[in-house]
Amino acid sequence: MDAAGLRAEFPVFARVAYLNAGTCGPLPGAARLALDEVVDLAEVDGRRGAYYDRFFALRDRQREAYAGVLGAAPADVALTTSTSDGVARVVAGLGLAAGDEILTSDAEHPGVLGPLLAARERLGVTIRTAPLAELPDHVGERTRLIACSHVGWVTGDVAPRFDGDVPVLLDGAQGVGAIPLDMGALGCAFYAGSGQKWLCGPVGTGMLYVAPEHRERLAPVALSYVGYADAARGLDADAIHATAQRFDTPALSAETAAAALASLDLLAGFGWDAVHARARELAGQLAARLREAGRTVGPRGETTLVAWEDPEPDATSERLAAAGVAVRFLPNTPYLRASVGAWNDEDDLDRLLAAL
Ligand SMILES: Cc1ncc(COP(=O)(O)O)c(C=O)c1O
Repeated sequence: MDAAGLRAEFPVFARVAYLNAGTCGPLPGAARLALDEVVDLAEVDGRRGAYYDRFFALRDRQREAYAGVLGAAPADVALTTSTSDGVARVVAGLGLAAGDEILTSDAEHPGVLGPLLAARERLGVTIRTAPLAELPDHVGERTRLIACSHVGWVTGDVAPRFDGDVPVLLDGAQGVGAIPLDMGALGCAFYAGSGQKWLCGPVGTGMLYVAPEHRERLAPVALSYVGYADAARGLDADAIHATAQRFDTPALSAETAAAALASLDLLAGFGWDAVHARARELAGQLAARLREAGRTVGPRGETTLVAWEDPEPDATSERLAAAGVAVRFLPNTPYLRASVGAWNDEDDLDRLLAAL
């Protein structure tokens, strides 16, 4: 499949220069077909036997596909509903208490800030912030967790490497599917990601990587039937999965799993190396063209986000939407942000620049 073939799989491009995967990726037609197929089965046969067999088989494949994109073993990957869900499971499951400190950056998404705020209010944990690039220099004696973006959601900057002993929780909402990942090389304890952004799946899908050496230290705070290896054994603690599956959410459906997998299969068919390389190349092109046009581009790494200053980001994003160009503004910042994926092409960039 070539780039034009990949793009043709996404109906949205018939109308819109869609540059908003940082919020939600474009949805391929195959995802809707896969979802329809499961709904058809449910409608005709009822949600019993075959529906549940399909559901559990889909869950296993979804976990394997996420593991592949993360560069991790399936045993180290839990299925969640979102990045925020994964972050909350880690922050709540570490047994943090008054006197402990979480270090975070000063530009985090509320998906990270919410669980941190809850830890501060409910557990008495101290939250300290510093600029993302400087975080390693701010680790203190009481720091029990570093929780920050892998790729910053505002301008697409990348977290520095952390080499100490303090466990690191990376918010990978703008990382997974967008840039190449290898959990072992990254060295984080936890990595939370979204299925609906750069993996083009439905809203309500996501994943949490838990490094094997941290698995026993993390309590499965929302343990449910999907966390059991043998659910019939009820209150027997040994009956829960030995793997990260113990952290799974029960709040997934066969419908969402089927749609998520169809999108993952499509992207894998184009090739993950090609997905990453094309997105990075197009995003770099956009950043360069914006600078040539006299725009101030926010500090970014080799990522798929491009943010630039605009005097009225809110109004400009609405004007662009009316012109068929989907980008977003970031509240309380001077930035408009374009999310550039392998499914985009130069025509999308032309349309954005012309409409600006
Ligand atoms: C950096 C970052 N973290 C977290 C989130 C929230 O993601 P989710 O809806 O999957 O929880 C977003 C969504 O925009 C994000 O950009």
